[in-house]
Amino acid sequence: MKRIVIVNGPNLNLLGKREPKIYGTRSHADLIRTVRAKAKDLGVTVSVLQSNHEGEIVDFLQKEGPGALGIVINPGALSHYSLAIYDCLQALEVPTVEVHLSNIHAREEFRSKSVTARAAKGVITGLGFEGYGLAMEFLTTL
Ligand code: DQA
Repeated sequence: MKRIVIVNGPNLNLLGKREPKIYGTRSHADLIRTVRAKAKDLGVTVSVLQSNHEGEIVDFLQKEGPGALGIVINPGALSHYSLAIYDCLQALEVPTVEVHLSNIHAREEFRSKSVTARAAKGVITGLGFEGYGLAMEFLTTL
């Protein structure tokens, strides 16, 4: 069965409690439930990680990335500076969509630059949970 890798970075475990005006009131568990329901609809399986640690994300991508249909990644704040995640995505050559719950271009200046996005086929930003489903749908069309 085809598989999509889903990765959420630092502080996304706090969804629901963290700045609800920006990130909403639903939890990370709610997000993963939505992702799993979408996977079922699309007929794919998912490998899921939420981690607050850059190295753990790199290890997971190196392990789960090869052979996957694609990667959906929200690196959180690591988007703005993690060359290790950028290098890892480049090395894997697995189609990747970067997702942000909030619109990173409508917030503080430092958020509008993503170094990891350079390794992605595209970026979905500001569409909340919906962005993950759209990214997964896109990856199944490749
Ligand atoms: C985020 C945006 C980032 O700037 C921030 O550091 C996050 C979440 C988003 O999903 O909107 O942790 O990636």
